[in-house]
Amino acid sequence: MIYSIALVCASLAGQVAAACSRATLQEVTAAYVLAQTGGNPTLLSLATNTSYAENDKPVDITKGVLSQPITIDFNRSIYDTTQCATFTELTAASSKHPYVIHTRILLDGDGIKVTKIESVVTDSGDWAFNATGHLYWTRQEKWEPIPKSQRDSRAVIQAAGDAYLNQWGNSTLPVPLGAPCARLEGGGYTGQSNPSANTCGMGAFPQPLKVANRRYIIDEELGAVDVFNNFPWLEATKPDGGVPSTNFIRVEHGLIRYIHEVTVCETPQCGR
Ligand SMILES: *[C@@H]1O[C@H](CO)[C@@H](O)[C@H](O)[C@H]1NC(C)=O
Ligand SMILES: *[C@@H]1O[C@H](CO)[C@@H](O)[C@H](O)[C@H]1NC(C)=O
Ligand SMILES: *[C@@H]1O[C@H](CO)[C@@H](O)[C@H](O)[C@H]1NC(C)=O
Ligand SMILES: *[C@@H]1O[C@H](CO)[C@@H](O)[C@H](O)[C@H]1NC(C)=O
Repeated sequence: MIYSIALVCASLAGQVAAACSRATLQEVTAAYVLAQTGGNPTLLSLATNTSYAENDKPVDITKGVLSQPITIDFNRSIYDTTQCATFTELTAASSKHPYVIHTRILLDGDGIKVTKIESVVTDSGDWAFNATGHLYWTRQEKWEPIPKSQRDSRAVIQAAGDAYLNQWGNSTLPVPLGAPCARLEGGGYTGQSNPSANTCGMGAFPQPLKVANRRYIIDEELGAVDVFNNFPWLEATKPDGGVPSTNFIRVEHGLIRYIHEVTVCETPQCGR
């Protein structure tokens, strides 16, 4: 009896892993990009109770940004076959209403239905927002698939992202930065004057500061992790809770190569 249950479980687990193939996830992000282009969320295979949130608040999907047509100039996605989830960065500079949007999409165990969509949606007035700058710099970068023999493990990729965020809370902690390394924050680029240098180093934040509520999407093939997180300190009115933020990070040989930060500002005092 126990033996047969174990067999059934093993075979179900096998099906789950097989269903969440890279190809399946690529179809999901392609559908997402089309859905956002047309302002039509029904192009995604939604579950009956798909949860939808923008900037960490639940939103009615029919009233959210995903229901407004947006002209997308550039998009980048990563695929997490272990979690059956995707991450997409949308750059919309030529749209009537410019945006930069980071979105995580979670699927059910068989990889068919979308169960959760969470976006950090930035536009004019958000942290360093400049969609034209974002488009210009993201287009210069190379996030090519990493040859199989050179791929990092999920743990190594996540550790690089975590080290970067942990350092905000303790500037003496080490961060594995490669060279070159550049940060794209909103539309500003640390590598602007020297794209071949390591310009990812950060100054120290006032302490204590803890980057919490981290949610990861990890892709070994593209050597990338996206972390949705809370960014404390930026808003004087919300020093502890922080504002919605995400950091999309490319890692090669365990070292950070690019960081794309997208962060919401809630008051004109944002950034102090
Ligand atoms: C959606 O419904 C399924 C099936 O009833 C349930 O397992 C799941 O927890 C629900 N998800 C949410 C986000 O409510
Ligand atoms: C999104 O990215 C894919 C892959 O680079 C590309 O083929 C597609 O044209 C892009 N879509 C838009 C609307 O930019
Ligand atoms: C936005 O970025 C573009 C391209 O880097 C730059 O030309 C422009 O001056 C920037 N706009 C603002 C308001 O900073
Ligand atoms: C900061 O990190 C260093 C090195 O790991 C550690 O010795 C120190 O206790 C940390 N400081 C705080 C305030 O956590």
